[in-house]
Amino acid sequence: MALLNSFWLSFILFSGLWLVAFCDQDGFLSLSCGGTKSYIDSFNISWVSDSAYINTGNTTTTTDNVGGVSLRFFPDFQGRKCYGLSVKNVSSLVLVRAQFVYKNYDGLSKPPSFSVSLGTAIATTIDLATNDPWTEEFLWPVDKDALSFCLHSIPDGGFPVIYSLEVRPQPQGAYQTGMEKISNKLLRKSYRINSGYVNGSLRYPQDMYDRIWDADEDYAPLHVSSGFNFLVNLSSSPSIRESPPEAVLQNARVLARRDALTYNFPLDTFGDYYIVLYFAGILPVSPTFSVLINGDVAESNYTVRSSEAGALYLTRKGIKSLNITIKSISFNPQVNALEVYEIIEIPSEASSTTVSALQVIQQSTGLDLGWQDDPCSPTPWDHIRCEESVVTSLDLSNMKLRLISPTFGDLLDLKTLDLHNTSLTGEIQNLDSLQHLEKLNLSFNQLTSFGSDMGNLVSLQVLDLQNNSLEGIVPDSLGELENLHLLNVENNKLQGALPQSLNKESLEVRASGNLCLSFSTMTCNDVSSNPSIETPQVTIVTKKKHTRAYNHLPIILGAAGGALFVVLLISLSVFLFVRKRTEVTHTARAATEMRNWNAARVFSYKEIKAATNNFKEVIGRGSFGPVYLGKLADGKLVAVKVRFDRTQLGADSFINEVCLLSQIHHQNLVSLEGFCHESKQQILVYEYLHGGSLADHLYGPNSKKFSLSWVRRLKIAVDAAKGLDYLHNGSEPRIIHRDVKCSNILLDRDMNAKVCDFGLSKQVTQADATHVTTVVKGTAGYLDPEYYSTQQLTEKSDVYSFGVVLLELICGREPLSHSGTPDSFNLVLWAKPYLQAGAFEIVDESIKGSFDVESMKKSAMVAVSSVERDASKRPSIAEVLAELKEAYSIQLSYLACYGHAS
Ligand SMILES: *[C@@H]1O[C@H](CO)[C@@H](O)[C@H](O)[C@H]1NC(C)=O
Ligand SMILES: *[C@@H]1O[C@H](CO)[C@@H](O)[C@H](O)[C@H]1NC(C)=O
Ligand SMILES: *[C@@H]1O[C@H](CO)[C@@H](O)[C@H](O)[C@H]1NC(C)=O
Ligand SMILES: *[C@@H]1O[C@H](CO)[C@@H](O)[C@H](O)[C@H]1NC(C)=O
Ligand SMILES: *[C@@H]1O[C@H](CO)[C@@H](O)[C@H](O)[C@H]1NC(C)=O
Ligand SMILES: *[C@@H]1O[C@H](CO)[C@@H](O)[C@H](O)[C@H]1NC(C)=O
Ligand SMILES: *[C@@H]1O[C@H](CO)[C@@H](O)[C@H](O)[C@H]1NC(C)=O
Ligand SMILES: *[C@@H]1O[C@H](CO)[C@@H](O)[C@H](O)[C@H]1NC(C)=O
Repeated sequence: MALLNSFWLSFILFSGLWLVAFCDQDGFLSLSCGGTKSYIDSFNISWVSDSAYINTGNTTTTTDNVGGVSLRFFPDFQGRKCYGLSVKNVSSLVLVRAQFVYKNYDGLSKPPSFSVSLGTAIATTIDLATNDPWTEEFLWPVDKDALSFCLHSIPDGGFPVIYSLEVRPQPQGAYQTGMEKISNKLLRKSYRINSGYVNGSLRYPQDMYDRIWDADEDYAPLHVSSGFNFLVNLSSSPSIRESPPEAVLQNARVLARRDALTYNFPLDTFGDYYIVLYFAGILPVSPTFSVLINGDVAESNYTVRSSEAGALYLTRKGIKSLNITIKSISFNPQVNALEVYEIIEIPSEASSTTVSALQVIQQSTGLDLGWQDDPCSPTPWDHIRCEESVVTSLDLSNMKLRLISPTFGDLLDLKTLDLHNTSLTGEIQNLDSLQHLEKLNLSFNQLTSFGSDMGNLVSLQVLDLQNNSLEGIVPDSLGELENLHLLNVENNKLQGALPQSLNKESLEVRASGNLCLSFSTMTCNDVSSNPSIETPQVTIVTKKKHTRAYNHLPIILGAAGGALFVVLLISLSVFLFVRKRTEVTHTARAATEMRNWNAARVFSYKEIKAATNNFKEVIGRGSFGPVYLGKLADGKLVAVKVRFDRTQLGADSFINEVCLLSQIHHQNLVSLEGFCHESKQQILVYEYLHGGSLADHLYGPNSKKFSLSWVRRLKIAVDAAKGLDYLHNGSEPRIIHRDVKCSNILLDRDMNAKVCDFGLSKQVTQADATHVTTVVKGTAGYLDPEYYSTQQLTEKSDVYSFGVVLLELICGREPLSHSGTPDSFNLVLWAKPYLQAGAFEIVDESIKGSFDVESMKKSAMVAVSSVERDASKRPSIAEVLAELKEAYSIQLSYLACYGHAS
């Protein structure tokens, strides 16, 4: 009875699987490398040419006696040669099988050797001198849509060559049992044996996953009787996740005596191995045995029950040969199939921030640097070096970069940055965050000023600034760099005294070729011959930035009177006495200055501390530091934006910002409640908005559950555009926001949107309407490419960034993503052609079917024109606003007609 049950169960199961296997080769990809025709082989598998999957290499055919086969070979030795394989719809694991054939196709009788990689892992080395053809099989844990399979030439190895490449999805959950963290392990097949079978290999369609099971006669011990083939229907196979084919389980190698059955497997690499043994009860008895790997007991009491199938999963670390012994405890030992894999670690990928930043940098060079896939693994990109999947060195010397863009600041792990001879102009900027930077080479550029606080680069050892156009004095903050041992400022236009903080034994300062630069000002007795320096900035004397005070005082006085000896005198006295000034005088003075600006409410640091409950709850991260939730004495909630010491603006810029912000009042702009400026603190207090940011709503944890409807999105866009329109056209002076992005658009309880974070704003006066700015600020993905290349800052840069926000509202995805294919990496480049063609399949899934097509068309058109590369072709924000208002009202009347609630 039991036998009958299992019979029917298995019949249904196996015939079910059989049908699936037979009808469709789901997810199979079979590439004939260098082939030109599609064909179906004797296993009923369809093959196609590989040309759609690779864009490099030459094709040829062998002149073999059997008529010749097509091959692809790679005659130039540079870089990796990669196939991009789509593994969409594959649940967890794919088998990748590659065949390499030489067969003297080039008539040189020099079989090549080369290595191959999958994703970030170097998988193995192929040596066609030892085997030709050569087959490799890998099991890859899928975690993305695409997988790259690459060939790498090795020195004196000849041209890499490939014959075929196959991708076969494997059963869900297979080849994981008994192994830790499969997700970062690649399995390379050593053996897959159909035990007891002596007549060739078996594969698709018997194995619906198209694994190739080889006969075992080459490995089976001589003293063993021949294979046993007993047709029994097996019942419990579904519990084996690998789903070995029934045809394989139906035969076994069975030892005729009650003794030990041993397989000997030579291994070609010393390493870690994963072993799977399959047993099926195809005999009327149930043998019990122990399993030994290289003489050690791995399983002591395993029983194969009649009509049941089971598997054992074993791993062995650091072995260079393998024997598997099955030793009888009762009845005759047997085994039905076995698989042996080498375990290869997959290096982790570089962080997506790093990859995004590097992609943007590549774009800004205007060159194709061949940067694809992962920057560090399997081999680092050109111009880059890595340590443990982290980019630690970047060398872009002799390219045209023009400025140090903010994206450099995202490469947080850099130890070496070489930007010499890259046409850099303006300020040294955007590098403050590189706390690990040890060597910075900015020599042979046209940099004019020490912009940001170099004192932040705490690990810096070598700073090379020679042959630039640096003006003014050398900032004192460089002296704070304890590890600095070489500072080269030769051949600049620097002058004045070198800060005494640099006068130390551990530091070599090279300063020749400047206007007048030394540790002693007294040697500079010809100051009058120096050209005047123009630095149009408000001057406030501060304690922290004594160097700035020193820098500016002479200019002001010089402008006023031009009495040079006074300049010298004052400079000296400031230099000598500035350190002695007490904190108290400074604070009192700063506070007075600020009251005079007629700004919003002035808070004391104590009040701020109380309001934020000692800076307890972080609600966001602004461009300069954390933002805390605060509650004022009157119960009003506020957002408190704190700048930490290291990221502080000069007092002058801070005052500018406070002054500017307190003048601005508009319903679509977040308003400033007050500020605090005490000793080392620079704190801005804003009104608090309960609805969070647009970014939270689009991408936050609840964004899928409560997704914004199209009409809501349009309303938000209209609100934000109103806010920007006020900045551009309504306020005096006009203001360019410079960092428009979803996380800078906040929502109140009623979902009204307000634009925030004017910290980086730039006032536009009539005179500098076409101001050339040297400080590029902003966020990767939103940056106007023209601003990048021309440094011409206009309102159109905000329009570009706002266009990106509109694209996000339409597509529901972030401006830069590191998943998917490289084509979809950049939102603007990806979405533009679709939207221009009115192809709305890229519209966010959650609003599909609920938008009016006209409304979408209008919004898409205005979004696309806002992100035009050529700024003059972009609409003004006022025009954008007008279009969005129309799109909004179209959508409203559509909803009125069709009754969708929003
Ligand atoms: C199950 O076994 C019977 C013979 O016992 C055979 O006729 C039948 O084809 C088998 N079913 C399968 C799916 O192999
Ligand atoms: C080959 O597969 C197709 C379906 O993909 C099927 O219709 C055909 O019968 C198969 N032929 C052979 C010989 O198995
Ligand atoms: C490879 O192809 C290129 C152009 O397709 C050709 O110039 C070159 O000579 C070829 N190299 C070899 C070794 O055949
Ligand atoms: C992936 O699966 C979905 C549904 O499961 C199907 O609509 C789509 O066509 C599949 N894509 C590919 C490339 O097979
Ligand atoms: C091996 O298989 C072939 C056909 O696949 C068959 O003709 C031959 O007899 C088989 N040999 C043995 C020893 O079973
Ligand atoms: C199996 O390997 C172990 C350890 O390497 C060795 O001691 C033993 O002799 C081997 N057995 C056979 C049968 O080769
Ligand atoms: C092996 O299993 C049998 C029953 O399954 C049990 O009686 C026996 O004690 C076990 N032996 C060892 C060594 O675990
Ligand atoms: C700077 O780079 C250019 C090429 O972009 C090169 O011709 C020139 O020699 C380089 N100069 C220095 C000083 O390295």
